[in-house]
Amino acid sequence: LPPSRALAVDLGVSRGVVTDVYAQLAAEGYLKTRRGSGTKVSQLAMPRQTPSPASDAGSGSIDFDLRPGQPDFDAFPRKRWQAEVARALRVIPSRALTYPDPLGIGELRTAVSDYVTRVRGVDARADSVIIGPSTTYGISTIWRALRELGARRVGIENPGWRWQSRTVQQAGLQAVPIAVDEAGLMVDELDAAKVDAICLTPAHQYPTGVVMTSDRRSAVVGWARRRGALIVEDDYDAEFRYERTAVAALQGLAPDLIAFCGTLSKTLVPALRLAWMVVPRRIHAAVSKQYADTWPGPSVIDQLAAASFIERGELDRHIRTSRRRYRLRRDALVSTLSSRAPELRIGGVAAGLHVIAWLNRPVDDVAIASSARDLGLAVHSLHHHCFATDAVGPALVLGYASLSEPQLRRGAAMLANLVRAAQ
Ligand SMILES: Cc1ncc(COP(=O)(O)O)c(C=O)c1O
Repeated sequence: LPPSRALAVDLGVSRGVVTDVYAQLAAEGYLKTRRGSGTKVSQLAMPRQTPSPASDAGSGSIDFDLRPGQPDFDAFPRKRWQAEVARALRVIPSRALTYPDPLGIGELRTAVSDYVTRVRGVDARADSVIIGPSTTYGISTIWRALRELGARRVGIENPGWRWQSRTVQQAGLQAVPIAVDEAGLMVDELDAAKVDAICLTPAHQYPTGVVMTSDRRSAVVGWARRRGALIVEDDYDAEFRYERTAVAALQGLAPDLIAFCGTLSKTLVPALRLAWMVVPRRIHAAVSKQYADTWPGPSVIDQLAAASFIERGELDRHIRTSRRRYRLRRDALVSTLSSRAPELRIGGVAAGLHVIAWLNRPVDDVAIASSARDLGLAVHSLHHHCFATDAVGPALVLGYASLSEPQLRRGAAMLANLVRAAQ
């Protein structure tokens, strides 16, 4: 273990705290301390290593975490959030500590409707916004509501985000994979798929990173209008846009057909469990009923804190500074991969927190991800995100937001060596 003085500096606590903790862990047998040789973890306290079944995820420690979907946890604005929570506790009247509106408190629904209108071009009013713990939860309620309204089949992107299909199936509906190409979802496939709704990530497709073209955007809206189907737009990481001005949300094109989902899981951190949806009038009552039946939160104190955080422009500020840092991180990853493994074709760089590295030969991306994991480098294979057997790829999906530039360069150099060895 590090010397107590160094750990105290790292953690920003007093040295006494660290020495007390070391002493307590030593008293319980977890640590061994010997004068002059520092503090070590006791062998007796180490769990016995049991061999785990072969898996994509691997089991060793992770030194370079390039898995997609993770923001920079170290950058969470703790002080500002703490100030908002303290303020919320000061101003909230006692009568507001009762069971809240299951659709979210008025202050946050208003702040969100202003925010998504301004930043994403969404057509929203406070009473069309529903606050919940996550997009995952929100889309689950949409599927359950659609089932009650008679829907049977929902299109999901292939490759796509696993929770699209999981939540559809959990709601008792059939998930129908629809292919994605370099222009976005292949809208031509929708008629034959006979689906009642489609779940999409048009601003930065997950995981390929494709930005849906304007032709496809109009085509999917045209399809939904002809068929009377619902589009669910998962706008999970669109605030992070690097090269061009932001592409507005699809929802603005047809607010009567599209449910828009946004989350703080990427712009801040998933631990907050704060997200929102703007739902069209025709499913509003059915979705609201799902919320009223399950009352999922989040806490009123956190909702009040979030409302003020958004209204005071803190979320915009945080996104602006994060965007600058993420752009540098993305560049460190992409430039190292491009120079060390030029045979990789890197895509999806325009937005979000991950890129995709296409391998130019039919090699096994799962095997590369698993060898990387053995070296302490966690990445996703594209295969991991495919639903049909005629999987696309091979490719690797690489998140860059939670590592520093030097770490990304080292991780990317290791990955490049593995790729070169496999090609
Ligand atoms: C495409 C996509 N949508 C949504 C989410 C998660 O949102 P939430 O935490 O609000 O469920 C993720 C998380 O990785 C994601 O990849």
